[in-house]
Amino acid sequence: MPGDAPEPRRFMPTGPLTGRIRVPGDKSISHRALMLGAMAIGETRIAGLLEGEDVLATATALRQMGARIARDGSDWIVAGMGTGGLLQPGGALEMGNSGTSARLLMGLLASQAVTAVFTGDASLSRRPMARVIAPLAQMGARFEASPGGTLPLLMAGIEPAVPVTYRLPVASAQVKSAVLLAGLNTPGITTVIEPTPTRDHTERMLEGFGASLEIGEDSGARVIRIVGQPELRPRSIEVPGDPSSAAFFLVAASIVPGSDLVIENVGVNPARTGLVTVLRQMGADITELAPREAGSEPVADLHVRHASLFGIEVDPALAPAMIDEFPALFVAAACARGRTVTRGLEELRVKESDRLAVMAAALAAVGARVDERADGLAIDGTNGDPLLGTSEAGGPVASHLDHRIAMSLAIAGLASRNGVEVDDTRPIATSFPGFEALLARATER
Ligand code: S3P
Repeated sequence: MPGDAPEPRRFMPTGPLTGRIRVPGDKSISHRALMLGAMAIGETRIAGLLEGEDVLATATALRQMGARIARDGSDWIVAGMGTGGLLQPGGALEMGNSGTSARLLMGLLASQAVTAVFTGDASLSRRPMARVIAPLAQMGARFEASPGGTLPLLMAGIEPAVPVTYRLPVASAQVKSAVLLAGLNTPGITTVIEPTPTRDHTERMLEGFGASLEIGEDSGARVIRIVGQPELRPRSIEVPGDPSSAAFFLVAASIVPGSDLVIENVGVNPARTGLVTVLRQMGADITELAPREAGSEPVADLHVRHASLFGIEVDPALAPAMIDEFPALFVAAACARGRTVTRGLEELRVKESDRLAVMAAALAAVGARVDERADGLAIDGTNGDPLLGTSEAGGPVASHLDHRIAMSLAIAGLASRNGVEVDDTRPIATSFPGFEALLARATER
């Protein structure tokens, strides 16, 4: 994270959000593009890579294991080492704040004869790794984790690993991806059974690189089989704009009167668009313009106009398709008419922060009426009136090293009377460098 001292900032109420903007590249797709590029033989060219700290942590780790990764103009080039070709890293792999880097790289390394120490920041060092350790240990990798199955952690990969059939006990694209990436260098067929579908970027990208993948269904569950040890073909990848970053602008434009904004080139993979569905159910005015394909992913421009939102009961089945968007949704709910109730969100307690507890406290601090429950929040909205915001005397709201909390509170500031002071904006750079500048541009007159 840049600098040792927190960087607090007050986000003031503004006029409407207007014009056309672009958000940075998709974080999930960027991690996967670097990792699979490193497994291909030859040069992979990536356009639109997210240059956030999380993705750069993945790039640094892959470089430590021999991949050549460099910027070329606005593109990135990865010179891969072939499936199973990573080298023993000289030092610890520093994952920073990035759960995706940690869990996916563990998968990638589990079936290679390398030993690595994974470290992370205070937030990542609290997050559960047992969910990836369990299947990867079944495949033969060995782990020495910190108490509670956390980082710092030492992992010894094994070659050849044992192919397994693994049924996911939690709906997690990271766990699914870790097993599939481990299966990449494992002889035979590795199978993942996914009772609740999650984002499928790994599957789409593996196919794009020429891996042999079979996706089927069994008793309502998705079944993904990967044949190990393929020769991956390098390719060109266009990374679409991140729907999880667009989320803050979708909510901001929905709640700030007079807004009329187009967010160009956003990924609209159905496994990621739960927020758009829920906002529309709440009365939001969002349309998809010029739908198209880019780099094996559906993309569109999103046109959002201010609308009066009303509270709803959010269908828990939509949670995996908007798992990172709940902090933003909670802000929309706090400004809506009536009550919004969310359930089935236990996973939010093990994200970059405990997003239920942290958002409940933060929204209460800016004047919203929130009831925190074990598996969700119930929020009574202001009926379109501004939130109170924070006072000088009350001090800033705590974002707990969580980029998405910080950005959600920034959006709350736009729809507040006094503005909202956020304790530390540095974590925003993990996923959305340029967020504040883009917000300023969208709100300038
Ligand atoms: C991600 C999956 C999700 C998400 C995270 C990125 C991915 O995590 O919250 O930000 O890139 O696969 P889980 O798999 O833990 O739900």
